[in-house]
Amino acid sequence: MREMLEKAADVLVHSKMTIALTGAGISVESGIPDFRSAGGLWEKFDPAEYATIEAFRANPEKVWEMLREMEEVVLQAKPNKAHIGLGELEKLDCLHYIITQNVDNLHQAGGARNVIEYHGNSATLSCIQCGRQYNASEKRGEHVPKCACGNVLKPDVIFFGEAIPAEAMNRSFQLASVAQALLVIGTSAAVSPANTIPGVAKRNGAKIIEINKEETHLTSTLTDIFLQGSAGEIVSGLVGEVKDRKAKS
Ligand code: APR
Repeated sequence: MREMLEKAADVLVHSKMTIALTGAGISVESGIPDFRSAGGLWEKFDPAEYATIEAFRANPEKVWEMLREMEEVVLQAKPNKAHIGLGELEKLDCLHYIITQNVDNLHQAGGARNVIEYHGNSATLSCIQCGRQYNASEKRGEHVPKCACGNVLKPDVIFFGEAIPAEAMNRSFQLASVAQALLVIGTSAAVSPANTIPGVAKRNGAKIIEINKEETHLTSTLTDIFLQGSAGEIVSGLVGEVKDRKAKS
């Protein structure tokens, strides 16, 4: 593992444009379950009934059951060593953008500045009828938050069946096209179109460094350097190796 970590650090130190694609696995050590691991969210809530825009429109009260349970966990979550380490890599000019599928705001809380929220963010809610937007914090007391117009409010996160925000989609594609290195951290790469980003980067010559506690379908197809283990530990190790190299240069 150490040799692979050193190889990954060499890539990061020499890359002029490094981006990261992160998924729910990077926040598991902050206490937020991921979706598809054993004990993950989709084991408890069927995504077909809780995570599609049709399900939300048909029965918002039911979907808010899950959303309120998730919110409890996210509100107590703190950035872990992986989030903080990526913020440090950004400061070391060894990471330039983070494209995250997560909606927990932990990258920003961990010090990262250039974060592209591919699946939106849970900090605001919008009315599915009139479009009025609220801070989630001002609606915390209402189990099923309502707009002043009387309709149900929906978190500004992307449900299955909704389009990725155009700005996030275009910017991510653009960055993947010019990246020299891509860190893929804590994602099963099961969901499109986020899972097309590694292929775009690879086709444009980027080195793919994957950090995951287990192999994914990327590992044997696109990944150049696979660092298996917990994101917190591996990212911290990576930061240490990069700092050593920067100190010697
Ligand atoms: N360290 C490293 N990797 C981890 C850790 C950890 N501590 N814990 C879990 N993982 C890995 C799992 O092995 C898995 O490969 O993180 C990945 C999480 O995969 P998913 O649960 O599928 O989450 P994600 O890839 O983010 O899902 C993508 O699907 O349901 C939608 O919108 C939702 O954004 C989400 C999208």
